[in-house]
Amino acid sequence: MTTVGFIGSGSIGGTIARLAVAAGHQVVLSNSRGPETLADTVAELGPRATAATSGEAAAAGGIVVVTVPVTAFPHLPAAPLAGKTVIDTCNYGPERDGHIPELDGTSLTSSELLSRYIPGAGLVKAFNTIYFKHLLSLARPAGAADRSYLPIAGDSGSAKAAVTEFIASIGYGVVDTGPLADSWRQATGTPVWGTPYGPSSNEKGEPAGEDAIRAALATATR
Ligand SMILES: NC(=O)c1ccc[n+]([C@@H]2O[C@H](COP(=O)([O-])OP(=O)(O)OC[C@H]3O[C@@H](n4cnc5c(N)ncnc54)[C@H](OP(=O)(O)O)[C@@H]3O)[C@@H](O)[C@H]2O)c1
Repeated sequence: MTTVGFIGSGSIGGTIARLAVAAGHQVVLSNSRGPETLADTVAELGPRATAATSGEAAAAGGIVVVTVPVTAFPHLPAAPLAGKTVIDTCNYGPERDGHIPELDGTSLTSSELLSRYIPGAGLVKAFNTIYFKHLLSLARPAGAADRSYLPIAGDSGSAKAAVTEFIASIGYGVVDTGPLADSWRQATGTPVWGTPYGPSSNEKGEPAGEDAIRAALATATR
């Protein structure tokens, strides 16, 4: 069991926290408005959950989940994230984030941009391809025939191993898509983004196994 810090505790962060607590992990939540605004969420999650500032959540986590709008990247607490295994759930969307020139072209993935703001972190892209309601409903124990898979990308083998173990503990297998530079294969709008788990109108989602995720990744174009 590990302590998982959260920078961002909204739809996807809150769902990962819920699955993590159910799996026996400790979670430390944070957001932009301060720990007192997370009192209801902490009460709902129970004794394995606490709230803190973003810097404290980053320092506390054996794994830290960064799950914020891309516009928040410049405001992340870089010092306590150095040397940490960090999960990046974030998607770039100009309609929400405004246009970021480096990300409008094909020269840089959003995870590579994030890594510039948190140097020294072992960054792993994960969870960005699944709607938060599907993430909650499709979690299955290891060995289940209908276990779903999630693509992950990262440059650090040890960080990927830690994230693979964490994701397995909360109910999913992983498909390794390669380094952060290749994480465009799982970015917004690609075949593996959302579609394998069914439409958001079906809140239960549809299980997507390893073969389905590999097939979707193989058809990605840039
Ligand atoms: N929703 C999904 O199904 C889904 C699925 C996959 C990936 N994603 C991606 O994951 C990221 C989070 O999505 P979401 O839907 O969870 O968003 P959300 O519900 O809007 O939550 C965003 C969280 O980020 C926090 N935040 C914003 N700026 C911050 C800062 N400077 N420091 C610390 N925390 C900050 C917010 O805190 P305050 O509320 O206090 O501002 C909030 O807790 C986005 O990049 C999104 O594209 C979303």
